[in-house]
Amino acid sequence: MNERVEKALNEQIEKEASSSQFYLAMASWAEQQGLNGTATFMYAHSDEERFHMLKLVKFINERGGTAVVPGLSKPPSEFKSLENVFQLLLDHEIDVTNSINNLVDICLQEKDYTTHNFIQWYVSEQLEEEALARTILDKVSLIDNDKAGLYMFDRDLENSAIQADNASAVTPGA
Ligand code: FEO
Repeated sequence: MNERVEKALNEQIEKEASSSQFYLAMASWAEQQGLNGTATFMYAHSDEERFHMLKLVKFINERGGTAVVPGLSKPPSEFKSLENVFQLLLDHEIDVTNSINNLVDICLQEKDYTTHNFIQWYVSEQLEEEALARTILDKVSLIDNDKAGLYMFDRDLENSAIQADNASAVTPGA
């Protein structure tokens, strides 16, 4: 496998693994605040990021490269507010999108069209994840300090996480 592509893919493994840990930390914080819907959403999101990481690990190894399982730095355990959590989520996803775009560039420069094709799945995924994070952040911004609004927001997020989970149970790996 092309060495430059392999290095970039391994860096992406680290990003996805860090995302999984970061969202796990958010899930745990939300659970401690009694925001069970947000916690359910973040636990599911953390699992998704682990899936993104595993997909990369398997791809590198199947193509004769060496996937490296990274050591990770400790994510934060405290967050300022719910709005802060979703702002961090959006910022993080934008950073991941930049990294995926960089991977696409490297694949084209190295004429690695197989990896380029594989990475298109991540390009689409990032589009969806950024859009979702923006929609949720817009809703959180509207709530401000309204307790009833917060309750409804959290409940809606739990319902959407359950629906997404049911949909992925019907189409595993989708
Ligand atoms: Fe796999 Fe949300 O980046």
